[in-house]
Amino acid sequence: MNLPFKAYWDLLSQHIRPQKGRFSLLVTLLLTSIGLRIINPQVMRRFIDSALAGDALSALTMTALAFIGIAILQQVVSVSVTYLGENVAWTATNALRAELAEHALHLDMRFHNDHTPGELIERIDGDVTEMATFFSQFLIVLIGNSLLLVGILAALFREDWRVGLGFSVFALGAILVLNRFKDIAIPHQKARRQAEADLFGFIEEQLTGTEDIRSSGAVDFSIRELFRIQKDIFTHDRRSHFKRWIIENAMGLSMTTGTLLAVGSGYWLFTAGVITIGTVYLFIHYINLLEEPLWAMTHEIQSFQAIGACVERLTEFRKVQSSMQEGNIAALPANPPGLSFEQVSFSYNGSDPVLSDLSFQLKPGAVLGLLGRTGSGKTTLARLVFRLHDPLSGKVLLHNADLRSLQLAVLRNKVAIVTQDVQLFRASVRDNLTFFDRSIPDERILHTLRELELLDWLNTLPNGLDTELDSGGRSLSAGEGQLLAFARVFLRDPGLVILDEASSRLDPATEQRLERAIDKLLRNRTAIIIAHRLGTVHRADEIMILESGRMQEYGDRRQLAADPTSRFYQLLQTGLEEVLA
Ligand SMILES: Nc1ncnc2c1ncn2[C@@H]1O[C@H](COP(=O)(O)OP(=O)(O)OP(=O)(O)O)[C@@H](O)[C@H]1O
Ligand SMILES: [Mg+2]
Repeated sequence: MNLPFKAYWDLLSQHIRPQKGRFSLLVTLLLTSIGLRIINPQVMRRFIDSALAGDALSALTMTALAFIGIAILQQVVSVSVTYLGENVAWTATNALRAELAEHALHLDMRFHNDHTPGELIERIDGDVTEMATFFSQFLIVLIGNSLLLVGILAALFREDWRVGLGFSVFALGAILVLNRFKDIAIPHQKARRQAEADLFGFIEEQLTGTEDIRSSGAVDFSIRELFRIQKDIFTHDRRSHFKRWIIENAMGLSMTTGTLLAVGSGYWLFTAGVITIGTVYLFIHYINLLEEPLWAMTHEIQSFQAIGACVERLTEFRKVQSSMQEGNIAALPANPPGLSFEQVSFSYNGSDPVLSDLSFQLKPGAVLGLLGRTGSGKTTLARLVFRLHDPLSGKVLLHNADLRSLQLAVLRNKVAIVTQDVQLFRASVRDNLTFFDRSIPDERILHTLRELELLDWLNTLPNGLDTELDSGGRSLSAGEGQLLAFARVFLRDPGLVILDEASSRLDPATEQRLERAIDKLLRNRTAIIIAHRLGTVHRADEIMILESGRMQEYGDRRQLAADPTSRFYQLLQTGLEEVLA
């Protein structure tokens, strides 16, 4: 067995170190609990021996009380060990969870494209929980029980070296025998679980296809198949029970052998006058105490094998580096930025081009209307400006600085994206608008909401700004969602906004509210509007039409609109909504 202790420790040590005090207490209590378990039978021996020797009642009572006292103390210490063990483990692994979650949030979008949320949850929660279990199991079950085993054997050696030796041989033999049997049930348990999964899969398939099955007269076939799978489950279940029975009996047999050994050697040494009856009792008690360590050392070890894979996955995940390195420019001018693309090409997977050789310059304060069919790369262009991805070749410049030379925080402060679907969090309206930035005063929030004509909406909420919103925003209309997204932008006050307009149609009243809000949003800002509606397009100073990631047309909106040979002119004639919707 190859336990990756070093890798495990590398992952957890920095989170255990802050709990040094509690960790030491845990180790101390663990040792105390083991000590008490070994000492208590000795007290009982004294009790038996003094009773047989006819000692005074008061002395006997004292010994009995000591026995009870130690037993209670030992229980209390045991409980504390379990409590502290879980506590230290969960505190450390929660810190690890936080560390990994933060790590995941800082990884680039390429990583997130390749790894599903489910996989990340499994890594950050599933594998880490495994780490916590391992910690408490390992420390308490395996180390604790190994020490208990050694302690018992040492105590027996102290009584009589021959007994100590005999019991050591017995323990070693029992571990070997139990190890031989411990795995025999696993293949059947696995097969049983697989058969169960098959059954559920089969039932689901049959229920969804029930119409087809009936109409094609396949009912008999279905039922026969059902019987076959159930028979499979039964067979594996029976075998795995039988094998488990063998394991339990191997354990039982070992313990019986041990007891025989204790009784036999006790009898022999007692009749030889070497030991007292109390010591015979001690032997028998110690043998029973051995059962737990023996079981732990053979059975719990299995669960430790799974941890190897976990540790490996987590270590690898922690090593993943964002391909996106931060620049060091820490400040940009306060005025609206100019934006330029210089021969930018991009692809999500490295082979299929999504943007090809794009070059354009947008002056500070200008509005670019971005048009193109679905899949032409408009949203992708926006992502490059926000630096969710880096171009494969070429440069994106903001205020004449390559995005790669800026600190990400500086860039993200300067640029805001309003996407087609607004992501709301399960949090109050205030936190949803400010992104948990408590430094923004309520007056500013209310002022913004008034500007965006959202005060009426706010007044319908039971607790105003403190009302909790649903994640996913089911309680909001599409228009309100968009307006809330605008409010977020106003509160952050970026110099460049990218508006990825929803292509779905809104009712005229909402549309007008949105129009007025967009007017305010664009005031004194550079902007890219991914437009689906004529009303929005008319705001643009310049127009770019994308076609399969290439720039099909770029120019001043008025000039293009006046030029009958232009693509934009034709678009306006056929109707933007029809072509681009
Ligand atoms: N995360 C992604 N991973 C891989 N490919 C992507 C990803 N996002 C978009 N694509 C692909 O890149 C191309 C451009 O997509 P993009 O979303 O930029 O188009 P769009 O012009 O915004 O379309 P729409 O008008 O439908 O929003 C499409 O072929 C799309 O399938
Ligand atoms: Mg899009």
